[in-house]
Amino acid sequence: MSKKIVGLSCGRKNSNSEMLLKAALMAAEEEGCETEIIRAFDHKVTPCNSCWTCLKTGKCAKDDTDWILEQTLLSDAGIIISAPVYHLRACSYLMIIAEKTNHLFPRKPNIFERKRPGAAISVGGSGYDGWTSLGLPTINLFLQHFATLVDQVQVDHCANIAAALTPDNAWAIERCRQMGKNMAKTLDTPFEDWKFLGQDTPVACPVCHCNVMYIEKDFPEIMCPTCEVHGIISPDANGKYSVAWNQDDVREPRFSGPKEAHHLHWIMEHEWVDEPKQLALPEVQAKIAEYTAWGNYISAPKKR
Ligand SMILES: Cc1cc2nc3c(=O)[nH]c(=O)nc-3n(C[C@H](O)[C@H](O)[C@H](O)COP(=O)(O)O)c2cc1C
Repeated sequence: MSKKIVGLSCGRKNSNSEMLLKAALMAAEEEGCETEIIRAFDHKVTPCNSCWTCLKTGKCAKDDTDWILEQTLLSDAGIIISAPVYHLRACSYLMIIAEKTNHLFPRKPNIFERKRPGAAISVGGSGYDGWTSLGLPTINLFLQHFATLVDQVQVDHCANIAAALTPDNAWAIERCRQMGKNMAKTLDTPFEDWKFLGQDTPVACPVCHCNVMYIEKDFPEIMCPTCEVHGIISPDANGKYSVAWNQDDVREPRFSGPKEAHHLHWIMEHEWVDEPKQLALPEVQAKIAEYTAWGNYISAPKKR
């Protein structure tokens, strides 16, 4: 595997996401890696509006997102995503890039085998009381489709431009340098021996290593909402709780080849076979006409 790492920064120019990413890439270069940086803010990135032109033409011609995804999602290099937290989750630049991937997956056979190392840096201005709790999970919503996570860090208390370089945040720069070294080391290691080299919290999903859980039914079952890895919580004789993670789910999480194929098949059956039958019913068509005709729409004034 080539020792190249692509870094995608989704924050302000020359600010925290970018400086922390650079700390990681500088350290990776010291270990012999070649690196590149993409600054999302320099590009036109517009939300998906479900027009599905991309499924007919293979591309979204509206903005630069395809190009960003060609350099990141479709590349064979290692990847580090660095993104600020806006309202608890990764900023919308990253969310938009992540939501516009569907038409590109077929361009890279075996993409869901995820045989590329990935890492995540999430940056928040505050971060106390869970104010950055969805930062790493939402970066993972993108990364887990095509990379195996080897490291990640949540950096808080970086509000102003370049505050990541202040003495209070020296630990974070050092931690990101370690991330760069972890990525370089992983690029020198065969895929079968890759390990997560970051720090797990006491309860963490064994795939994305985040600690935000979904209770689908009730205790004692929990599930990682990103990876669909189920776990059973139970206390030992001393009342200390632990989680037994389902190892089949660990081998085949949500964003693995078999689960992605199942999901695609389900969508095709539902959207193109089952739903159209019901949509064709005269009573459904009458309801659609009634609901379409109803409503008091208001609009923003035209900008001059
Ligand atoms: C619209 C908006 C919402 C934000 N929401 C949060 C938040 O929920 N939690 C937090 O810790 N920081 C929040 N911040 C602060 C940024 O995460 C912080 O300034 C970060 O360092 C920005 O990264 P950058 O310097 O790379 O642009 C928010 C900033 C903006 C602009």
